[in-house]
Amino acid sequence: MTYPRIIGHRGAAALAPENTLAGFAKAAALGVKMVELDAKLSADGEVIVHHDDTLGRTANGEGPVAQASFAALRALDAGGWFGPDYAGERIPTLAEALEAIAAAGMGVNVEIKPCAERERETAEAVIAVVQEHWKGNGPFQFSSFRPLCLEVALEQAPDYARGFLTDSFAEGWLERAQALQAVSVNGNYRHYRKDRIAAVHAAGLLALAYTVNDPAIARQLLDDGMDGIITDVPDQMMGL
Ligand code: G3P
Ligand code: MG
Repeated sequence: MTYPRIIGHRGAAALAPENTLAGFAKAAALGVKMVELDAKLSADGEVIVHHDDTLGRTANGEGPVAQASFAALRALDAGGWFGPDYAGERIPTLAEALEAIAAAGMGVNVEIKPCAERERETAEAVIAVVQEHWKGNGPFQFSSFRPLCLEVALEQAPDYARGFLTDSFAEGWLERAQALQAVSVNGNYRHYRKDRIAAVHAAGLLALAYTVNDPAIARQLLDDGMDGIITDVPDQMMGL
C-alpha cells in the first residue's frame, strides 16, 4: 500500500473552492494524483461533500447543515465566496465527487465527518455510497477523527483502507490506529515529530501529515520520513 506524496486538501483548497467539482478538476489539472474531501449528511440523509457543520463560510446559506434538506443545500452557491469565476458552483453529492475524481484518474481520501450525534448513520451512508460509486483505479482510503466511524468502516467495508486521523496524538494513538487496522496515521503536522513518524513505520503503517502549506516544512517532513503531505497548495508542492 502506498499513497502519492502530495494529496490535495479538499481538492486544492487555496486555488479553487474547497470540496467542489471545480476544486477537484483544479487538482487534476495540476497533476495531483489523490485528493481529500469531507463527507457528511444532509437532514434528509443525502451524503454531501462539505467541511463545516454550519453554512455560511463556503456556501451562501446559514444554520446547521444537519438541519438543511438536500434540495435546500443544492440551491446554494458554493463557489461565489471564493471568486466570481466560481459563482454558481454547487455542493456536490459524494457520488458525484467520486465519479468526477475517478474520471480524472485520481485517488481519494474520503474523510467521514459527521455532524454531532450522527456518527453511525453518517459512516453507514458514506460507506454505502463508496461501495456503489467508487470505481476508480487510484488509491483510496476512508479517514476520520471519530473512531466509531472507522470501526463501522472496518466492520462493514474491511477491504477499503482506513486512515486514523489525529490532531494532538493523545495517549494511546498508535494502539487505537492499530486496533482499527488503519493503514496510515494522518496527523496534524505541527505535532508529527520525527519519533512519531518512526513509531508509525515500526508498526508497519504510513505517515501522512495535514495541512501543510509551506514547501520548506513539507520538505523537512518528507526528509524526516513522512510518506505523504495533505496540502491546500499542491501547485507549490508537486516538485517535492
Ligand atoms: O484529512 C485531513 C484534514 O482534512 C483533517 O482536518 O478539518 O481539514 O477536515 P479538516
Ligand atoms: Mg478533511
